[in-house]
Amino acid sequence: MRALTTIVRTVRQSHKAWDNEYSRLARTIVRSLPFRSGEIVEIGCGRGRLTIALARHLPSARIIAIDRFVGPYSHDRTRLEDGLIRARVLDRVHVVSSDGLVWLGRRRSRIRALITGELLPELSVRQMERLFRRTFRTLEDGGRTVHAFLSPVARNQRQRLTIEADSDPRWTRHPPTEWFAPPPKAASTCLRAAGFEDVRVRLLPSRIQFRGPAIAHQLRTWGVRPSFDRAHRRELEGGLELPDWILLSGVRKARGAGRAVRL
Ligand SMILES: C[S@@+](CC[C@H](N)C(=O)[O-])C[C@H]1O[C@@H](n2cnc3c(N)ncnc32)[C@H](O)[C@@H]1O
Repeated sequence: MRALTTIVRTVRQSHKAWDNEYSRLARTIVRSLPFRSGEIVEIGCGRGRLTIALARHLPSARIIAIDRFVGPYSHDRTRLEDGLIRARVLDRVHVVSSDGLVWLGRRRSRIRALITGELLPELSVRQMERLFRRTFRTLEDGGRTVHAFLSPVARNQRQRLTIEADSDPRWTRHPPTEWFAPPPKAASTCLRAAGFEDVRVRLLPSRIQFRGPAIAHQLRTWGVRPSFDRAHRRELEGGLELPDWILLSGVRKARGAGRAVRL
């Protein structure tokens, strides 16, 4: 069944639609977890759109929200903390400024789940492999990992435009190192290679379509140069659309039950 699409025309509508989108994403992630409490780590929390939604959907859990907060994300720690205060979840979310891979490498006590939202697109293949191996080592028995990211496969012209704007170095000021997003099959193979079992890839259809003034606002937020708008004026009249969400998940089965992996 196709999801109901929200047509966004103004900046205000855009903020609301993003909040709804992340709330839906968090709800879907939380439903896939067999627990509702314990210590949950989110790497690449940024300004906290997913963090806040997760904290709301997991009122008995404690979240460690980690980000490097550098480059285009250098102001996000302040935005995150403001958002946590407004959402009244600051007491359950511990914010850490660190590289997530370094943090995981140093972590000695076990965690229950490791979740990311739009982090994998920022990593190289090597970093993704290291992330999965270190997550496997740090999770408790039965622990879960869930990685949400926007699909690199466009379902229509509006999504194709979004992917091009946000990944082509001609247009974006922050082109990805490797990809708009990892191919889901390659990412799931990598998760299995790290020792995870019950590896699943799920597609959650996106719901946001940007039209009119909301298009330019969204593109500037992503660091896309105005030359993109000029070069694609006709196509943009049909709108921009968020690609579908991919949810990649895996289970860290009881120690001894899984395969040995090199860390
Ligand atoms: C595209 S943003 C996503 C932010 C947020 N999760 C969301 O969905 O809105 C990617 C985030 O990952 C962070 N990041 C990238 N590599 C990282 C690393 N190695 N360790 C910690 N954070 C990292 C960036 O700083 C940025 O905040």
